[in-house]
Parts: sequence; C-alpha cells; structure tokens
Amino acid sequence: MHSFVYYSPTRVVFGKDTQKQAAKLAKEFGASRVMIVYGSGSVVRSGLLAEIEAIMAQEEIPCCTLGGVQPNPRTALAREGAKQAVEFGADFILAVGGGSVIDTAKAIAHGAATPDVDLWEYWKGTKTVERSLPVGVVLTISAAGSETSDSAVLTDEESGTKRGINTPFNRPRFAIMNPELTYTLPRYQVACGVVDIMMHTMDRYFNPVKGNDLTDAFAEALLRTVMKYGVTAVNNPHDEQAMSELMWCGSVSHNGLTGLGGLMDFCPHKLGHELSGRFDVAHGASLSVMWGAWAKYSRSEHPERFAQFAKEVLGISETDIERAGEMAIEEVVNYFRKLEMPTSFTELGIGVQPEEVLQDMAMRATRGDTIQLGSFRPLNAQRALEVYRLANH
Ligand code: NZQ
Ligand code: ZN
Repeated sequence: MHSFVYYSPTRVVFGKDTQKQAAKLAKEFGASRVMIVYGSGSVVRSGLLAEIEAIMAQEEIPCCTLGGVQPNPRTALAREGAKQAVEFGADFILAVGGGSVIDTAKAIAHGAATPDVDLWEYWKGTKTVERSLPVGVVLTISAAGSETSDSAVLTDEESGTKRGINTPFNRPRFAIMNPELTYTLPRYQVACGVVDIMMHTMDRYFNPVKGNDLTDAFAEALLRTVMKYGVTAVNNPHDEQAMSELMWCGSVSHNGLTGLGGLMDFCPHKLGHELSGRFDVAHGASLSVMWGAWAKYSRSEHPERFAQFAKEVLGISETDIERAGEMAIEEVVNYFRKLEMPTSFTELGIGVQPEEVLQDMAMRATRGDTIQLGSFRPLNAQRALEVYRLANH
C-alpha cells in the first residue's frame, strides 16, 4: 500500500427535498452574494432554478445567474462568468447542474478570486490556483463526481484542448444530492453517467499496487453496485433505489476513496478527453469507446489484476487468469452495449479516422510525447497511438 492523504471535506447532504437547504448551507459557508451557474435549460424546464432563486430570496441573499453552460464546458463562458461574478460582488458560487456546470462554477470561483490571471493559465499549468471563492452544488446528474472531487475539466475552444486540473481549491463546500432531481434525465445521459462512474473507479482500480485489500474491496463493491443498478436506471430513471444508488456511487467513485494507497491510472480518461476536445462527444461515450481498447492493450502487463476484477466484480469463475481477464473485458464491453453506449469510433459516430488524426491525438494526450500516461501500463505517444488504433473501427 502506498502512502496517502485522504481529504474529502465536502459536506454531502443527501435525500428528498434537500435542495431546500441550499440557501441556509450557502449562508453557513459565508455566502452573502451568490452567483448561480446552470446549464442549457434543464433546470429552467424542471423548475429547479426558480425554486433555488425563491429559497435564496427567502433568506435575503442577493443572487445573479449565469446560464448556458454546455457539455464539455468552454473556457470562454467561465471567463465571462468570472467577470460577472466580480462585477456583482459575488462571494459564493452555486452550481445547479452536472459536471459541466460544476466545473464551470469552480473555474469561475478561481477566476473571480484572482481576476488579473487568465483562468486557462491554471489549466495550461503555467499558473497554480492559490485562492478561490467557495463553491456549493445542487446536483442534477449522477456522473462526473465533480460534486465532491478535487478536479475540474475545461475545454479551450480555440485550441480544441480539453484538460483537467486537480487542486484542493476544487473541492465544493457542500453537495446537495436529491436523487429525484435526476428523474428528468434522458436515457442517454443516465447511461453516460453509469459509464463515467464505473470508469472513475476502474481508472483507480487498474493500477500496479498490490496488497491494498480494503481499497480494492471498496472499489469492487462500488462497481458491482453501479453495474447492477445501471441497467435499471437506464430503463427507468424514476426508479428511486436505482437513482439513489447511482448518485451515491457517483460521488464516492471520484472523491478519492476508491483509490487510496494505489497509483491512479486514468489512461482511458486522458485518451477520451482528446476525443471530446476534437469531436465534442459526451464524456461518458468517450470512455466506453476507449476502455475496451485500453484494456485489450494493457491486460497482459498485470493479468492477475484483470483476473481479480473478473472474479470479484463480475463473478467469473474461470481459473485460467489469462482467459478470465479476456472474458472480463468482453463482459464489460457487452455491458456498455447493453446500455446502448458506443464501443468504437464508428459507434461513436465519428467514423474511422485517418492515421494522422490518431497520431495527433496521441501526441496531444502525451503533451508532445513529453509525459507518460497512467501507471498500469504507462503510455507514451507510440503506445497511446496503438490504443487509439484498437478503437478505430
Ligand atoms: O445543460 P442542461 O440543460 O442542464 O442539460 C444537461 C446536459 O445536456 C443534462 N442534464 C443534467 N441534469 C439533467 C439534465 N437533463 C435533464 N434532467 C436533469 N436532471 O445532461 C447533459 C450533460 O450534463 P453534464 O453536466 O455535461 O454531464 P456530466 O455530469 O456527465 O459532466 C460531464 C463533464 O464533466 C467532466 C467531463 O469531462 C465533462 O466535461 N468531468 C469532470 C470531472 C470532475 N470535475 O471531477 C471528472 C470526470 O471524469 C469528467 O471528466
Ligand atoms: Zn469521468
């Protein structure tokens, strides 16, 4: 087991009607003027935005709003949000939505706290976040785990670059999680969420560290749960237990718990970000496409890990570890298909890509072949290219 620091300071407020506590919680965490950030309209249609605004008014907290966040959130809107937050004098940012909205809120919080720094500098790695405004979350989709994570992912539209940063300043102060707020999700978004939750866990689980039993057991239990309820949730987003299990799995999958003492891998995520940056595809879909290719390419590095996954997560009783690993990959890919998620470039709708595109994505993912991705089977540009080739059909 490796050394670790476990810091998960977000207060989780889970259950029916919990959104009604948004104003009181914001006040408790120091809010006197709030910017509410939301997406492309689902919270307007559901009435949630109006409900939050009314609750804020009852507590006499002045609010301004910034809507229009789109999936794969763009830097330009976050810049604009930071400017408006400063003009309004906001001292708290409340995200009402999913990962894209929450990440935009985090970026606005960093940008508004230090207005003379262009916030993309943080994502480029040329500046480090040193202060931020507090962020709270009312979650509407179980997927990215941003409501408790230390990460935020932005897309710079000019360069087509999608990138994440990790900093303790990204941890929201509170996360309100009412599963009923996810009942309005379209089937495709529920499925994207299931894949993302699985992948936050698997991108930690598939790492080279051995003898980490408790963490492995957390991850295995989470994966069994999300796979069990994922299918129910996709078929019936009004199933209370399924949507509740997904919501809790989503947060635990990405607050750090399922990787403690291990070495994070996250290759499928990093390879997937290149697909989203270039083709603007949904995050969960980029992952279901990349995982099978990555797993086929990497399995032989630690076949015993895949065999453990096969037994503990999927209940595969095959004793030959090579065969068990192969069966596990096949089963997960079939599970993605059952959710109607893509598992190749053509299923993703981008078609078979020319070799130059694959090479460019491999170079970008590895920052011009200057860094290696992951820990399970570390990928340089050439290896990343080989993984892309396996998904390119
Ligand atoms: O914009 P609206 O109209 O709200 O619609 C959204 C959007 O179209 C819709 N939606 C959300 N809640 C809904 C709803 N529709 C109906 N009813 C509801 N209750 O769902 C669509 C997707 O929303 P989005 O916020 O993009 O989803 P998600 O939570 O999957 O976030 C994806 C983003 O998070 C990043 C991804 O890369 C992607 O940019 N990630 C962030 C992470 C983090 N900060 O820790 C980690 C993840 O690995 C991920 O990279
Ligand atoms: Zn993810």
